[in-house]
Amino acid sequence: MDLSLRLWLIALCTLLFFSTTTIAADMSVSAINDRTKPVGNVHLEGTAPAVVVTTTPAQTGQAVYDQYCASCHNSGLMGAPKKGNADDWATRVSQGDAILAKHAIEGFNAMPAKGTCMDCSDDEIIAAINYMIKPN
Ligand code: HEC
Repeated sequence: MDLSLRLWLIALCTLLFFSTTTIAADMSVSAINDRTKPVGNVHLEGTAPAVVVTTTPAQTGQAVYDQYCASCHNSGLMGAPKKGNADDWATRVSQGDAILAKHAIEGFNAMPAKGTCMDCSDDEIIAAINYMIKPN
């Protein structure tokens, strides 16, 4: 085999090797976009980058109560203080708002944490408490 033919074969093998690795590369749209995106992002001083904040609107105390708390607190299930019943709430309210909120948020005996509304914010739970302690 003469030298030029051997070099030609090496070149061909190299070419084949690289072409297959290119084919094997991630061809997904996001990967391609990633590879072809412009280098560096221009950010002009003084212009704040747009931040999209997604917050779910707070639910009212009544809405939270109706959906999550009513099942126990309407009837007094398992000794739950009944909604709007001043006698049931008197001693509990006298503990102070902070304790009341803590017990509702973290759970207390048969009272489940957040009344099982794990997506509820602390404020929504507190709104529900305010709704249920209001005398009927
Ligand atoms: C599975 C039944 C159940 C559900 C649902 C439930 N509770 Fe209760 N809750 C109880 C029981 C039982 C108690 C009384 C616990 C005790 O005093 O031992 C209680 C007590 C409370 C108290 C008084 C805590 C204290 O310190 O005396 C608050 C406040 C309260 N619940 C708020 C809520 C809120 C707000 C919700 C809905 C988001 C809710 N509960 C849902 C059963 C429930």
